[in-house]
Amino acid sequence: IETALQDGPLRGKRVLVTSGPTHEPIDPVRYIANRSSGAQGTAIAQALRDLGAEVVFVTGPATEPWPQGVLVVEVETAKQMHEAVMSALPVEVGIFAAAVADWRVDGVSDSKIKKTKDGLPSLAFTENPDILAEVSQLKKGRPQLVVGFAAETDDVIAHATAKRKRKGCDWIMANDVSPETGIMGGSENAVVLISDQGAEEWPRMGKLDVAKRLASRVAEALK
Ligand code: CTP
Ligand code: CA
Repeated sequence: IETALQDGPLRGKRVLVTSGPTHEPIDPVRYIANRSSGAQGTAIAQALRDLGAEVVFVTGPATEPWPQGVLVVEVETAKQMHEAVMSALPVEVGIFAAAVADWRVDGVSDSKIKKTKDGLPSLAFTENPDILAEVSQLKKGRPQLVVGFAAETDDVIAHATAKRKRKGCDWIMANDVSPETGIMGGSENAVVLISDQGAEEWPRMGKLDVAKRLASRVAEALK
């Protein structure tokens, strides 16, 4: 890894961060995707690097520039992200900030689907691997600390608490992405940290500050 590791409380710790959306092809020119700039994931990778961690950054096609001083693994689809994550293990900490597409198109067309006079195309879907759940539930080689994200539009705490249980991760960083919050695509985030200690509401702050606060909590948890 071609990075000058910094000194700090996470020195010697290997951390994996997933970030950005995934793109799931329909045909050679079309895809379905989630909305994600990659801004929060990039900020988290930088904050962890600044505390001395060796960061593996697995990213889908994000619009935000990649972080510096980390190992970047670029992927397009959820399946590729899954493979990249599994090959990055073992790590001490896994942070899953990517907006992974839940489904991919079944039977991707090798040639461009053309408009025809006899009707609209229909797509069949198949479920993508749940990367966070799989890593959280590893019997051997599970990271010491696994952190997931939950972007919700209502009953944020209830949904995220259930999600934490279902996935088996240690923490969930939950946020309300209802359009009226303006969080989606913005520079701020309002997070609730869900752990076995319950729900801790963080004040609304810049994504960089969310990242710094998370990184210092990670360092504390690893002490
Ligand atoms: N995640 C993942 N792999 C997937 C789907 C989600 O690793 N195939 C991770 C995300 O990176 C995030 C967390 O799981 O950290 C929660 O994602 P979310 O979409 O909120 O959860 P889902 O279980 O897919 O539930 P929902 O039906 O609300 O989309
Ligand atoms: Ca999902």
